[in-house]
Amino acid sequence: MSSATNLLIRQARILLPTGEFLVGDVTISDGQIAQVASDLSTNIDETTVKIIDAAGLTLLPGVIDPQVHFREPGLEYKEDLFTASCACAKGGVTSFLEMPNTRPLTTTQATLDDKLQRAAKKCLVNYGFFIGATAENLPDLLTANPTPGIKIFMGSMHGQLLVDAETALEAIFAHGKRLIAVHAEDQARINQRKQEFAGITDPAIHSQIQDNQAALLATQLALKLSKKYQRRLHILHLSTGDEAQLLREDKPSWVTAEVTPQHLVLNTEAYQKIGTLAQMNPPLRSPKDNEILWQALLDGVIDFIATDHAPHTLEEKAKGYPNTPSGMPGVETSLPVMLTQAMQGKCTIAQVANWMSTAVAKAYKIPNKGAIAPGYDADLVLVDLDNYRPVLREELQTKCGWSPFEGWQLTGWPVITIVGGNVVYERGKLFTEIRGKVLRFDA
Ligand code: DOR
Repeated sequence: MSSATNLLIRQARILLPTGEFLVGDVTISDGQIAQVASDLSTNIDETTVKIIDAAGLTLLPGVIDPQVHFREPGLEYKEDLFTASCACAKGGVTSFLEMPNTRPLTTTQATLDDKLQRAAKKCLVNYGFFIGATAENLPDLLTANPTPGIKIFMGSMHGQLLVDAETALEAIFAHGKRLIAVHAEDQARINQRKQEFAGITDPAIHSQIQDNQAALLATQLALKLSKKYQRRLHILHLSTGDEAQLLREDKPSWVTAEVTPQHLVLNTEAYQKIGTLAQMNPPLRSPKDNEILWQALLDGVIDFIATDHAPHTLEEKAKGYPNTPSGMPGVETSLPVMLTQAMQGKCTIAQVANWMSTAVAKAYKIPNKGAIAPGYDADLVLVDLDNYRPVLREELQTKCGWSPFEGWQLTGWPVITIVGGNVVYERGKLFTEIRGKVLRFDA
């Protein structure tokens, strides 16, 4: 045992990179996993090593959530980097990639640097920030650093961050090599349908205004441009069976796609139960879409999972459609929602860990993350797969204070979350002095 060992996790059910489980121990030294074996308890100096008894718990690589909206700077009344990262820690999310629709918009190196400085001061987990495309900031898009990539809102946005003209989109796809992540909805179709359905206040109309065809049109255009320039493309929150079918037939090796838990387990029936809390962009779809998305995920047509955590206050959500903002929080429920699906037979635990960690690290080329193996960063989550507990509003850490899954009985709740070898959450308690690190993205 190395003298630098500072954490020993005892007798967890450890998910190995092979997808198999080993009941055993993990030692952590200097923020990284040192050893994984069935028994590492000999020669432990209990005065210097923290020992976690993990008997009965399952150890997974920490979740990397590759699409979140954390509202700082500028919209901190909804969420801020501290409250959001507390929610992450509680949800087993050890790293996140955040989107540029803050105030000011993250469209320059200076605004990116500002977010990075804020995160270094406030974030309990690891962080990375997208640079947002406008029709004018190509030089920034080429040089901004560090960033997982360029975010383009092809639709569902207003102001500078909306880039919906094909010529402007093509200029971005044609220049540079870095990853382009698209919110694919066709703004012209949405505008036209907003007029057609004007006056309707039932939030269920949202899924018809921003319909499957609006999503398909934009995804087709993004694919066309990506193929023309062989440009690395990531399709954010794929929501329709139509898009999944398109990708099944024609997905170049340099294209990836993600789906949110809510697009897998919620559908248009949710409007009846939770009204505008179910309103998001791209909207919830039909039960048939749920089914096709699930199959696409299982078959590898969809590569991984993101929450699109997009908090809005209950006051804003009570305004009445169409004056309500779109978006729902997700970071503290995503892992139990997906693990519950696994326990109910939809998929395996290993698949969930792949979709929520390993595959994300691979797609964004984040080194040393996404696996439980010596040399990897000690970003880990211990979950309890034996008990079911409800999602309770009063336990939520997100500043918006609500969840679309309230009352759902879930299993796989994080018991302990570890970031860079430090326990950041343990059985209901957050260790708010812990700070994450800026993520690196290999070229
Ligand atoms: O529903 C959404 N809300 N979708 C997005 O892409 C943006 C987000 C937000 O920032 O509120």
